Amino acid sequence: MKEKLAAIKAEALKQIEASDALEKLNDVKVNFLGKKGELTAVLKSMKEVAPEDRPKVGQLVNETREQIEEVLEQARVRMERAAREMQMKAEVIDVTLPAKRNHTGHRHPNTIAMEEVERIFIGMGYEVVEGPEVETDYYNFEALNIPADHPAKDEQDTFYINGDFLLRTQTSGTQVHVMEKGKLPIRMIAPGRVFRSDEVDATHSPSFHQIEGLVIDKHITFADLKGTLAEFARELFGEDTKVKFRPHHFNFTEPSAEVDVSCFKCGGSGCRFCKGSGWIEILGCGMVHPNVLRMSGIDPEEYTGFAFGIGLERIALLKYEIDDMRLLYENDVRFLKQF
Ligand code: DAH
Repeated sequence: MKEKLAAIKAEALKQIEASDALEKLNDVKVNFLGKKGELTAVLKSMKEVAPEDRPKVGQLVNETREQIEEVLEQARVRMERAAREMQMKAEVIDVTLPAKRNHTGHRHPNTIAMEEVERIFIGMGYEVVEGPEVETDYYNFEALNIPADHPAKDEQDTFYINGDFLLRTQTSGTQVHVMEKGKLPIRMIAPGRVFRSDEVDATHSPSFHQIEGLVIDKHITFADLKGTLAEFARELFGEDTKVKFRPHHFNFTEPSAEVDVSCFKCGGSGCRFCKGSGWIEILGCGMVHPNVLRMSGIDPEEYTGFAFGIGLERIALLKYEIDDMRLLYENDVRFLKQF
């Protein structure tokens, strides 16, 4: 029995020695120490050993098992270390190489300005809604108190798809969509793209963006309009910004006004930025015309409201001191990444 165990051990050690991979070591382990392994077979044949010899033989088997296990373990540690060293050598990093530049994208200046305007109005409790870019003549003109033969239509002559459908010239039609839903009161802004057959120059583009605003409730007055837009201007351009309301004409509001803000560059004393006037025009506004309310199913005796329309590009150009609108559309990354 002793010789047999010695032979098993010698054979196991020989096989361990010859193993050149962890899987092979594992095979050795299974073959000698596993359930069907050779040492286990010896244990199973103990009944053939005389009872008085059994403790001795048992001890011998255990010793042999321990010795094989120990050598196996040493071989495993050695092999793992060698494998790691090989890997480390293969993956040497040259820390003196310059790092790869990571080009992270970011928001377009128009988007930054739009989100800033949205943030201010959301803070005042406004809802942000979207209207369709392809509109009917009714929503773009008719329902805004601009009848078919009105000269105001000429100024906004646009891209007609056919006799009824056109690319909207203003976001004001969204006012009508929201009023028609019949849910009052209303406090909303509607940002979006608009289209006009304008030639491209430093301040014009056939496609640009507006942010429409509409508030309808009982007892809304021009004072609410002034307070709201003054607060908006202060939030957008700074605490000391003043607003000036100049009488104007829009078909869908009465009275109507254009709003100037005091130049945030020179504080109103006049500079190159405000062309010496101290003021910069930023939007159109007014009290919603009773005809417009009536056409959308709202009783002007019970409800009043105000509306305003902001040119988004104008805000972006002012805020970032860009002097040519075309730069916003050329999408030259060298320009865009400055914002
Ligand atoms: N829709 C007008 C435009 O495109 C801007 C405007 C003016 C919108 C007055 C309004 C408003 O809601 O009340 O020129």
